[in-house]
Amino acid sequence: MKVLLVGNGAREHIIGKSVKRSSKNPDLAVFASAHNPGLMELAASYQIGEMSDKTAIIDFAQRQKVDWAIIGPEACLAQGLVDDLEQAGIMAVGPSQALAQIETSKSFARELFKEYHIPVNPEFMIFDSPDGVEEWLDHLRGQFVIKPDGLTGGKGVKVAGDHFKTMNEGLEIIRQLLDLGQRVVLEEKLIGQEFSLMTFTDGRHAVHLPAAQDNKRALAGDLGPNTGGMGSYACADFSLPFLTPDDIKAAQKINEQVIDALKSKTGRPYRGILYGNFIAVNKGVKIIEYNARFGDPEVMNVLTVLRSDFTDICQGIIRGNLDKVKVYFENAATVCKYLVPAGYPLNPVKDVTINVGAVDQQKVDIYYAAVDQKKDGLYLTGSRAVALVAKHPDLFAAEKIVEAEIDKVIGPLQHRRDIGTPKLINSRMESLKKIRS
Ligand SMILES: Nc1ncnc2c1ncn2[C@@H]1O[C@H](COP(=O)(O)OP(=O)(O)O)[C@@H](O)[C@H]1O
Ligand SMILES: [Mg+2]
Repeated sequence: MKVLLVGNGAREHIIGKSVKRSSKNPDLAVFASAHNPGLMELAASYQIGEMSDKTAIIDFAQRQKVDWAIIGPEACLAQGLVDDLEQAGIMAVGPSQALAQIETSKSFARELFKEYHIPVNPEFMIFDSPDGVEEWLDHLRGQFVIKPDGLTGGKGVKVAGDHFKTMNEGLEIIRQLLDLGQRVVLEEKLIGQEFSLMTFTDGRHAVHLPAAQDNKRALAGDLGPNTGGMGSYACADFSLPFLTPDDIKAAQKINEQVIDALKSKTGRPYRGILYGNFIAVNKGVKIIEYNARFGDPEVMNVLTVLRSDFTDICQGIIRGNLDKVKVYFENAATVCKYLVPAGYPLNPVKDVTINVGAVDQQKVDIYYAAVDQKKDGLYLTGSRAVALVAKHPDLFAAEKIVEAEIDKVIGPLQHRRDIGTPKLINSRMESLKKIRS
């Protein structure tokens, strides 16, 4: 068996590792835009190219005679890579361009939930011009969120109170977007605790993964700018400390309803990973957004505890018989922390080397992200650099293990010490308790 893996971040590193762990001894053909040392070690062939170059990716896949493909980055899904691979006779884990709209268009997603009566939307309206914007913002009493209607790499969404303080500041942002011809979704600001619940699906059957929580802010105490995600944790019971069993059941059912709605809407089954970014609110759970692929960093929590053969799951997704695959997860907690360049995300240092050689890989797993392996060392390229992941029956023990190993990494790096600590988790439990009381 030979598998094409597209992408070169930490997400793809653990996907590749999970493929290689299979008892079927598959070979990996990796199409990447940088030299990820972890993936290079796993891959039988490693091709450097542009993620946007579909022709090069398909050409590589055909030369390598891969049996199937798995796509990491959302940008590839947005460009219809899965459609083109299928045209070339290569089935992929990942949705077609039309189905990926659940991530690539926030208005498509909101409209879909509305049309199929899935009760997860905040109040929202979609605008292509300034007509009616002020009235709508008055209606939302200034507590609103501005969402450009496309992929913005986690940097487009603006939240009242965080990114702008007054109605007029918000209006100015909206006007600038509309002037550029950008469609915007203006929605009610939800108050609660965010979490992620991902589901494997072949479009008809669903297998839910353990819930996880990412930490988006750059600095401890949830301060500083938003990032791609500074780290995440997941618990041995597959839930999260602040959630009730009903919250988890509700989130799972919502993912199933969305899978069905996508099939009705497009006439085609969604094959891949559906990632619900939920928020536990006053009453039940709502949706912040959907992603059409594994979350990074949460993938490092869920695949670390996967006990079944990952390639069986992938083939079940592709063949439409995911119900025949037995999927097991180990009851263990995981903590994942990213080391990021000093100054990240606004002014990250780059083109300097780091050294992870002293990390004990019996204690933690290392996943490489925005680094480039050159002859004289491992270079920072400006984004999240490496992730360390520990697994332990006890969440707080896992956190301590990660911290001890992070101390051994050398370079101009920073990370969030508070992720997975009792202090931060208790504050989240207290905060939701207050909202729900
Ligand atoms: N309706 C909302 N209410 C409160 N916060 C929101 C809302 N929508 C988005 N956010 C916040 O903004 C972040 C980014 O929004 P999201 O829709 O996930 O876009 P993206 O990940 O594409 O930037 C979310 O993780 C969440 O913290
Ligand atoms: Mg998001």
